[in-house]
Amino acid sequence: MTRLSILLLTFCIAVARSKPSERHEVRKFPEGFLFGTATASYQVEGAWNIDGYSAQWYEPESEEHEQAANDANDFMWAQYVHPIFSETGGYPQVMKERIASKSTQQGYPRSRLIDFTPEEIEFVKRSADAFGLNHYTTRMVYRNESVDTMFDSPSFFDDIGAVQYPLPEWQIGESQKVYTVPWGFYKLLTAIREKYGNPPIYITENGFATSPGLEDNHRVYYYREYLSAMLDAMEEGSDVRAYTAWSLLDNFEWKFGYTERFGLYEVDYNSPDRTRTPRKSAYVYKEILRTRSLDHHYEPDMSAPLTIDEFH
Ligand SMILES: *[C@@H]1O[C@H](CO)[C@@H](O)[C@H](O)[C@H]1NC(C)=O
Repeated sequence: MTRLSILLLTFCIAVARSKPSERHEVRKFPEGFLFGTATASYQVEGAWNIDGYSAQWYEPESEEHEQAANDANDFMWAQYVHPIFSETGGYPQVMKERIASKSTQQGYPRSRLIDFTPEEIEFVKRSADAFGLNHYTTRMVYRNESVDTMFDSPSFFDDIGAVQYPLPEWQIGESQKVYTVPWGFYKLLTAIREKYGNPPIYITENGFATSPGLEDNHRVYYYREYLSAMLDAMEEGSDVRAYTAWSLLDNFEWKFGYTERFGLYEVDYNSPDRTRTPRKSAYVYKEILRTRSLDHHYEPDMSAPLTIDEFH
């Protein structure tokens, strides 16, 4: 009996420890799940010095930095989610408290954060049918005395009062923008489910950047691992209904211009025709859509043309 329990316990631990990336069986997407791709057709005015918007996951460097990571998550994305999807509505409590206390220290007569009125709270709460989520990557977070002098004051980052950085081992290619952290996607989806009433989620952007080249194995790896992490969250109850790959084509990427290429199709910027050629990831993504399943071992035949087939 005891031996069986120990055996079972060991088995449970083994299962708990096996990360999504280690489970490489073919996984099915649920009936009716929607897939798509998106791209940008125009340069965004004024995008030369700013970056795009997405919800990153903020992970504490260690247990003592949990509050700092929590605050980063609240300021960086939950400030848009809390007013609509939380029970209480309005801004996250942490934002109200930190900005009020900073404002006092800075000599303001009242908080720089103008709160929702009770009418506004009710007006905004539950005003959305679905949750559109852009997600790419994760950052580690810590907070110690060093933050006191790190940021301009007053500023958004001084209000958060936390330092964020990527771990070097998260970089699998040359991208300066996207570090590969599939479990961060899982944690973000889980937090939205647990803290915000499990709304229907449409993944409106997710993808990886590479240099020019058609053998984009890093992108293929990123997509597989992130889809797998998404399926993990869905198996635990997250209500994800759709997934949109960013991007169909290489395009102008905010302050990164044309250096970070997100396309399933490569665009030749030197050709007047802007010739588009499918990368390996285009073949792999098509196969995922065709079979409605994720097979980590599928190897496409890239000598065959990539066709647009009848919808099925
Ligand atoms: C703050 O924490 C960071 C990261 O753990 C560390 O590198 C740094 O030396 C710390 N600074 C102070 C002033 O404690």
